[in-house]
Amino acid sequence: MNPGSVQHPMSGTANPYQHAMSSQRKVTMNYYLASAALKAVSMSSLTRWAYRALARRKASPKAINKQIGEWLLSRIPPGSVTVLEIGTGWVSAYSVLVALLRPECRIHCFDVRDIRYSLAEFKRTVELTMEAYLPYRSALHFDEAKLKRVLSANSIDEAYDALGLKYQVRASGLPEYPNESFDCIFSIDVLEHVYGPCFFATAQHWANLLKSGGIFMAQVGLIDHTSYWCHRKDDKRYIEHSEFTWKHLLENRVQYINRLTASEIVGKLEGAGFTTLEEERLSISAPIRVHSDYAQQSLEDARCLRLHYRGSKLV
Ligand SMILES: C[S@@+](CC[C@H](N)C(=O)[O-])C[C@H]1O[C@@H](n2cnc3c(N)ncnc32)[C@H](O)[C@@H]1O
Repeated sequence: MNPGSVQHPMSGTANPYQHAMSSQRKVTMNYYLASAALKAVSMSSLTRWAYRALARRKASPKAINKQIGEWLLSRIPPGSVTVLEIGTGWVSAYSVLVALLRPECRIHCFDVRDIRYSLAEFKRTVELTMEAYLPYRSALHFDEAKLKRVLSANSIDEAYDALGLKYQVRASGLPEYPNESFDCIFSIDVLEHVYGPCFFATAQHWANLLKSGGIFMAQVGLIDHTSYWCHRKDDKRYIEHSEFTWKHLLENRVQYINRLTASEIVGKLEGAGFTTLEEERLSISAPIRVHSDYAQQSLEDARCLRLHYRGSKLV
């Protein structure tokens, strides 16, 4: 498949997206070889653990994606609101950003496993985030004292405390808080990893955690994650193959993706109680080959690589 040129819905420039805060050091692999390797490391909990430990060691802190940061900062409701980030990953970078630039907010971070960086890498991420936002510091009520406390912390938990970040891990994927705890819930590149058969129930749970009128925001990466290993960030290659090939060769558990389409995700979020306020899609513009097993999808869904969604909980 040749994905051709890609337009980013927020900027209008050619695909400026760079994956979040950390990048895999460059390893180029053939797509099928990468699929086989990822399937092999998915085989046991030990190999999955080893893969995650290695991937984290190989990743290096990197500046925040400012477009995503600005998208969030411009849409988190004003005032001293309570915010939950779902799927904070290695660095909780977007929570860090909100903690520093919207210090009046109370921020909770959630993930299904604790894969947080070491203290040194976390501090480096905070510094890089601040460098990226240097020109905005005065305008955005940047909290210098908080930054100093983070940079002098002696443990990762102390650094989170200094930023006022609460961290919760639940393997179930269901954050444990009282109903209506949050004014805003957001996630970056997480919804595609939520186990498909549980997606709707999980979305209902998120809706329960939001106050009436609260905001739910998500960037959803619909690309084929194995393509990262082939240095492609604009690829949806699995869609050329049959369901049988997906199951027996391409699917893996370390970079699990649910393959829900953008329309299915929006439909499930709306069914769970969100009213859509904003829905932007980044799409492949060149012709693509779609296997007949995906023929029920609209061409728009088949081409969609990324979804930016913002919804409000029905009052
Ligand atoms: C691609 S990473 C994104 C991390 C971070 N949001 C970022 O942009 O750097 C996906 C994260 O989602 C988490 N995750 C997967 N399934 C989840 C679920 N059901 N609920 C919450 N987090 C989940 C993974 O553990 C991982 O940390």
